[in-house]
Amino acid sequence: MTDTPPPAALPSPDDVRGMLAGVMDPELHASIVDLGMVEDVRIADDGLVTVKVALTTAGCPLRHQIKTDVQSKVDGLPGVTKVKVEYGEMTAEQKARAMDRARFNARENAEATEVAPTTRVIAVASGKGGVGKSSVTVNLAAALAARGLTVGILDADIWGFSVPRMLGADGRLGGADGKIHPNEVAVPNLAGAPDGPAGRVKVVSMGFLVEDETSALMWRGLILTKAVEQFLKDVRWGDLDYLLIDMPPGTGDIQMGLARMLPQAEMLVVTTPALAAQKVATRVADMARRSYMKVVGVVENMSEFVTPSGERYALFGEGGGEALARDVGAPLVAQIPLEPDVSRGGDAGRPVALSDPESPAGSAFHSLAARVVEDLLPPVEMSGCTARILELAMTNLAASSGSSTPSNR
Ligand SMILES: Nc1ncnc2c1ncn2[C@@H]1O[C@H](COP(=O)(O)OP(=O)(O)OP(=O)(O)O)[C@@H](O)[C@H]1O
Ligand SMILES: [Mg+2]
Repeated sequence: MTDTPPPAALPSPDDVRGMLAGVMDPELHASIVDLGMVEDVRIADDGLVTVKVALTTAGCPLRHQIKTDVQSKVDGLPGVTKVKVEYGEMTAEQKARAMDRARFNARENAEATEVAPTTRVIAVASGKGGVGKSSVTVNLAAALAARGLTVGILDADIWGFSVPRMLGADGRLGGADGKIHPNEVAVPNLAGAPDGPAGRVKVVSMGFLVEDETSALMWRGLILTKAVEQFLKDVRWGDLDYLLIDMPPGTGDIQMGLARMLPQAEMLVVTTPALAAQKVATRVADMARRSYMKVVGVVENMSEFVTPSGERYALFGEGGGEALARDVGAPLVAQIPLEPDVSRGGDAGRPVALSDPESPAGSAFHSLAARVVEDLLPPVEMSGCTARILELAMTNLAASSGSSTPSNR
């Protein structure tokens, strides 16, 4: 007999379906659960979960995307040891129903949020304040954009906003056609291709709407939860590869509201190396689980201080990131050293990932971006799929019913 710890309790089929509600069919712009694509969920005693997905067209290259999304979401549930995805093809009748549903969603949800279903959404959260959520958000956004990507930042820290200052973005938000336009910062391509496309960071923050943090405080009770909702509904984000959300500290209403409005959101939890800090962060992970958000990774910030001559000091302790990662069953994806340039860059509006990409902290942010793009949450690649079936279906429907073509958002 070995003395291995007892395995975690198995998830229920409802837990699995709850997670799958966050997997979007990139073509049909709706959750695969809503579309009736989840045909079967089986959970074996050893933690193997088999999900059978009925596809609209068996040959669509996006099946690979759906498969990795299913695996990655379900893998985040405690007790799951392996995830297997099987495919089926929808019958004509099922397909018609899915199309009805997609059409309905396209209409109903057109104003639900302005965030495209192809945008990867990452909420940067922590259990307590001051651990570096905003610094991680801004530098990760900058490092992603430096790969030529278009990245949004939603500063959900309504009254404690710091993104505008850290990113050096100011001015009022623009508006047209009844929508708010985010502020934009151009980011040069640092990905080794001097003539590669420049990246963009589009940012929305309460800081662009109020004069200073004191007046933001006065708005507090009034609009706190509504503000984030409006930032999602009324901001013309356009085609973003990633949307990063700088969360306020804690596990309150904003977090739950966000999960409801953006079921595809995943969570990156920031902690310091202090073992005590990770206990607090565990609460965030619990919240993520309750709202079916997957914790995609743990970032340990202020890990160690490296002197110019290379000596290392663990000023804030050691092991917090690893311990938290173990607790929540997510990988430890970055250890960002404590470096004066991080806070100096934040104060000056020049994120260290851009001003000094080779510095220990700068390169740690670029490695984190690489990890996100290559492994954790690759951008949705639409170019491979030629079958624009939703558009086709809508055109056919419109032609057969004689009604006008519904607008495609
Ligand atoms: N790796 C680092 N090295 C040095 N200073 C850092 C580092 N990370 C963050 N800081 C500094 O620590 C302070 C807190 O960081 P930040 O504002 O990013 O945390 P936060 O979690 O967003 O805080 P809040 O909960 O108040 O929103 C800032 O002054 C920031 O510049
Ligand atoms: Mg912050």
